[in-house]
Amino acid sequence: MSRPIVVDTDPGVDDAVAIMLALASPEVEVRAITTVFGNVALESTTTNAGRLLAHCGRADVPLAAGAARPLVHPQRELAREWHGDDGLGGRAAALPDPVAPSGRPAVELLADVLRASEAPVTLVPIGPITNVALLLAVYPELAPRIERIVWMGGSLGAGNTSGVAEFNAHCDPEAAHRVLTQDDVPVTMVPLDLTLRCPAGPEWIDALAAAGPRCAALAEVITHYRAAFRERYGIDAVAVHDAVAVLEAVLPGTLRTTPRPVSVACDLGPARGATVGMPEGSGPPVQVALDADTDAVLAEILERLRRLG
Ligand code: BDR
Ligand code: CA
Repeated sequence: MSRPIVVDTDPGVDDAVAIMLALASPEVEVRAITTVFGNVALESTTTNAGRLLAHCGRADVPLAAGAARPLVHPQRELAREWHGDDGLGGRAAALPDPVAPSGRPAVELLADVLRASEAPVTLVPIGPITNVALLLAVYPELAPRIERIVWMGGSLGAGNTSGVAEFNAHCDPEAAHRVLTQDDVPVTMVPLDLTLRCPAGPEWIDALAAAGPRCAALAEVITHYRAAFRERYGIDAVAVHDAVAVLEAVLPGTLRTTPRPVSVACDLGPARGATVGMPEGSGPPVQVALDADTDAVLAEILERLRRLG
């Protein structure tokens, strides 16, 4: 039987890769897609998620919009320079008309999915983790219905939004702290330290583009993101951050993890959003994914996407 998952997302170019990966993977059944503010505003992330569902012919997957802003302090910055003004590298309008969201808040849809599922559900937040923090706060009794949270976010080393903070953590540090320091649900954190070690280069992108019309459209979406990587890092390759986290949910154990309590800097100073590895025993351990066979990760992602044609 395939494992039930929900992807919570802010598409986002690498989110688009991750959503299509989840939909392409027979090992999991995507019970819902929920959206959050992040790379661009919530209205756009929701429309983009709806377009990606339509693009994959999956209007059957429930979609709901969640948080439009962080829990406490306003969002400091979007990530348009990476993802384009529309969040999909300027290619959103080239995708089919979006599947409409249900009109119910994401937290309500998440609660429904958890209650209805015959097996515990894996949550895969790949944006600011606000919706999951709200879910745990509003429905603590549903925690046992969650198998695991696999979050793309954080960094034990350098950041990509400030010197120390990764984007998803930086967007809502209070939410990240809430989720990473609770011990009701196991958390796997897939940080930048690992995702930046999985760059998809020209051969990977060309193979994707050649796989069929759906994959070719995804390769088009990646074009602007690829240019941003070239400009920022001087490399012709893109980090498919969010897809690495989804792959771990699809094939548990693909990433090698180290248990480590993690605290999030929530002050308003220069360290805001830093995810800090803490001494053993100082809090519940988060499984931090710091290692993997990175060639195999990229090959697995590509192999699954190809099935979409
Ligand atoms: C994360 O930030 C976003 O821009 C990406 O979609 C990814 O979730 C990487 O830091
Ligand atoms: Ca994302």
